[in-house]
Amino acid sequence: MSQAAALELLTALSPEEAYSATAAAAAVAAAAAEVPAKDPTFYARWPYATPADIIPYIEAEAVRGDAQSVLDAMDAFSLYYPQYKIGPEKGALFEQALQQAQPSLALELGTFLGYSAIRTARNLAPNGRLICVEANPDNAAVARQLLQFAGVPEGQVLVVEGLAKQVIPGLPIMLQQLLQGAAQQPDLDVQTDAQQQQQQQQQQRRHRQGLGFDEVFLDHSKNDYLPDLQRLEQLGLVGPGSTVLADNVVYPGAPGFLEYLDSSGRYKTQLLRAKYEYEQAWNPNWEPNKEDAMSVSVCLDAGL
Ligand SMILES: C[S@@+](CC[C@H](N)C(=O)[O-])C[C@H]1O[C@@H](n2cnc3c(N)ncnc32)[C@H](O)[C@@H]1O
Repeated sequence: MSQAAALELLTALSPEEAYSATAAAAAVAAAAAEVPAKDPTFYARWPYATPADIIPYIEAEAVRGDAQSVLDAMDAFSLYYPQYKIGPEKGALFEQALQQAQPSLALELGTFLGYSAIRTARNLAPNGRLICVEANPDNAAVARQLLQFAGVPEGQVLVVEGLAKQVIPGLPIMLQQLLQGAAQQPDLDVQTDAQQQQQQQQQQRRHRQGLGFDEVFLDHSKNDYLPDLQRLEQLGLVGPGSTVLADNVVYPGAPGFLEYLDSSGRYKTQLLRAKYEYEQAWNPNWEPNKEDAMSVSVCLDAGL
């Protein structure tokens, strides 16, 4: 099948079929043998029209309570459908960096279906906690289910729905509740300036007492890496000793982010080179094996 014919086929899809036009297009491209040969019956056996459609596949292919089998099954699924996750190559580098950081309190911005959260959870310090922030409630719901299926202990990971910039101001209170075992999906009502200022001052004091995040992973909208990191800094949630990891800092790149890490003088940064991980064979502009990197930055100075 030619690419033009594949595109024509795609435009005939109903909105449900094309939850992600990209998912359907990947199937079409695979069927057209424009990508390495794959089992065409996979698409019939495991249709993927909503994020929750991955769950029956994981339940069939992975072992409940075995995190590695869940990660492997997610990787296998993504050979057929686009999955916006760090994948196995970066995943291994990511876990090495986590082993160095040994976080007791970790934060992830951009969780998708929970793949990197499962990798983070198994590298937390004993009794460590992870807060995940995910804008899409359907993704967040699947992430919670897959974390549970992977055997992540109840209460160890809290998946919060919302845009990072809306959730971050409420994190100091959430952290306190989390440490007291009572954190829930927060109320994202806008706070007054005075409330925000008071909260910021309290959190700055807390960070000096060691209550900020030990590790933060940025993997959400690339334009938000820099402003969201600065929000976390202003609240004292990232400070001396925090490790900030960020994916896709070379490709597609996060505007101003690496420059800030460098110019602020507050971070010691290392780039972990790896290939851009998303297979996008359906995309006419896609270049396979694109060079990318994950950054690992240790904050040396609070700069407050
Ligand atoms: C690349 S995926 C995350 C992959 C995940 N970290 C993994 O490796 O398994 C990006 C996710 O960020 C979410 N997202 C995008 N912008 C966001 C924002 N401003 N705040 C929170 N989540 C966001 C998207 O809905 C998407 O699920």
